[in-house]
Amino acid sequence: MVIKDPYEKFAQVFDSFVPSELHREYYSFIIRILKKLKFKPRNILDLACGTGKLARFFLDAGYEVEGFDLSESMLTIARKKGLRVYQGNMINFELGKRYDLIICVFDSLNYILKQSDLQKCFNSVERHLNWNGLFIFDMNSDFKINEVLPTYKNDYHMVDDTELIWLNSHRRNTWVGELVLFQKTENGKYQRFYEKHVERAYKITAIEKLLKRSKFEILRTYSDFKFNEIKKDSKRWFFVCKKLGEAKP
Ligand SMILES: C[S@@+](CC[C@H](N)C(=O)[O-])C[C@H]1O[C@@H](n2cnc3c(N)ncnc32)[C@H](O)[C@@H]1O
Repeated sequence: MVIKDPYEKFAQVFDSFVPSELHREYYSFIIRILKKLKFKPRNILDLACGTGKLARFFLDAGYEVEGFDLSESMLTIARKKGLRVYQGNMINFELGKRYDLIICVFDSLNYILKQSDLQKCFNSVERHLNWNGLFIFDMNSDFKINEVLPTYKNDYHMVDDTELIWLNSHRRNTWVGELVLFQKTENGKYQRFYEKHVERAYKITAIEKLLKRSKFEILRTYSDFKFNEIKKDSKRWFFVCKKLGEAKP
């Protein structure tokens, strides 16, 4: 199946559009989780790494980290940051190696629209973890997708030489962000592009069930970048999971 990449053009303005403070917050939150668990990963895979904004923080701190993403356009930018990357679909991947820690942040897993595909993704992650390895990820909550995102108005931004218009629409458990980009060309005229982002909401009980089926133990759940438990109105869920077992080779 050919998948249309919703980041093909957006990739070029992603780093200017998304403030680096967000990824600094992800980085320090994950580091605090690792410290709490006294876990020192020897290598890390940033799944759905995008342009490598988060991975760059880990690289700068001396960690061995690699990235994986569907979007060749996002990866082109990640490579320029010195990140070693793999291109593929996280629903089912095989890199022939294992990691101590796999991270996946900024709603990336909400892009998986079928529960059976999310299960396959968790299975792939599990296969790529070392014994006792950790999987830390976040997701937009069902509350955010069903109650918060529908209040967002359509949005206009000027980023670098590109005009962005976000057209938001919603169905139950689904956010659709249609992005119209007008990009300035060399002759000063604007060229128009259209990309469509779709995120799905899952029930937290469904996520827990899938993780257990993929042989993960859920060590902790947090919400909204705080060490608080998940509540009904939490917007961003964080899961900290451990690969359950398997005999040491
Ligand atoms: C919101 S961006 C987040 C990127 C990055 N994690 C960050 O924090 O900046 C979502 C990313 O998920 C990637 N993605 C979506 N579906 C994917 C899939 N099936 N396999 C791999 N990557 C995927 C997109 O290409 C995009 O880079």
